Amino acid sequence: MRAHNPSLTGTCSINRKAALLACAMLISAATGAVHAEQKFGFGQPVTQEDIAAWDINVFSDGRNLPDGSGTVAQGASLYAQQCASCHGAKGEGASGDKLAGGAGTLASSKPVKTIGSYWPYAPTLFDYIRRAMPLTAPQSLSNEQVYAVTAYLLHLNGLVAQDAHLDAKSLAAIRMPNRDGFVPDPRPDVQQQSGSSEKQANDKPLAQPQ
Ligand code: HEC
Repeated sequence: MRAHNPSLTGTCSINRKAALLACAMLISAATGAVHAEQKFGFGQPVTQEDIAAWDINVFSDGRNLPDGSGTVAQGASLYAQQCASCHGAKGEGASGDKLAGGAGTLASSKPVKTIGSYWPYAPTLFDYIRRAMPLTAPQSLSNEQVYAVTAYLLHLNGLVAQDAHLDAKSLAAIRMPNRDGFVPDPRPDVQQQSGSSEKQANDKPLAQPQ
């Protein structure tokens, strides 16, 4: 009977071919991006240098802060040129967030979240600015410039002196006023891993007076 039904055998052989082709495609995908570049004419192998450019996480305890340093005075002039237009001359806020002040307001009916009132760690401020600011040209600042403008912003918040000079060690040593204002998320479905960055990401602000 089968021999009299050419359409059935035809379908079978097409399907077998399709399965083999799919298999071959999977194998070639698994053999790597280098082949993709030659085969399809797009993409390029990722180098260690490419990866290093994005491997810039700074952890809350200061791990991975780069070499370099900067002063409040250097930061003040950089801030005036590249940040004040959006954040106000003294961090009071404009189109961009307010960056200074607000101390002691978190538990009030009008909490004012700034670096000084809200941020629990100083090293992550370095990470944020280096990665994201100025808004129109992220990652354009040198490490020295980021240390300097971080120092200036901490100074505007009364957390370092006018003559402060910050580097990896001194930045990590700063204790932010709201350091203990975050508590572990108590929901049972949120995994707690003590000491890990995941835990800090899950921490929630504590709406209690300090
Ligand atoms: C073109 C406007 C603009 C410029 C210029 C700019 N910022 Fe921002 N900045 C913003 C905006 C908008 C946000 C809020 C971004 C968000 O919430 O995603 C922000 C957020 C921030 C924050 C986080 C505030 C918080 O508490 O969440 C910091 C810190 C900061 N900027 C620092 C800087 C520094 C330092 C510079 C200069 C090197 C700078 N910004 C330049 C617009 C700007």
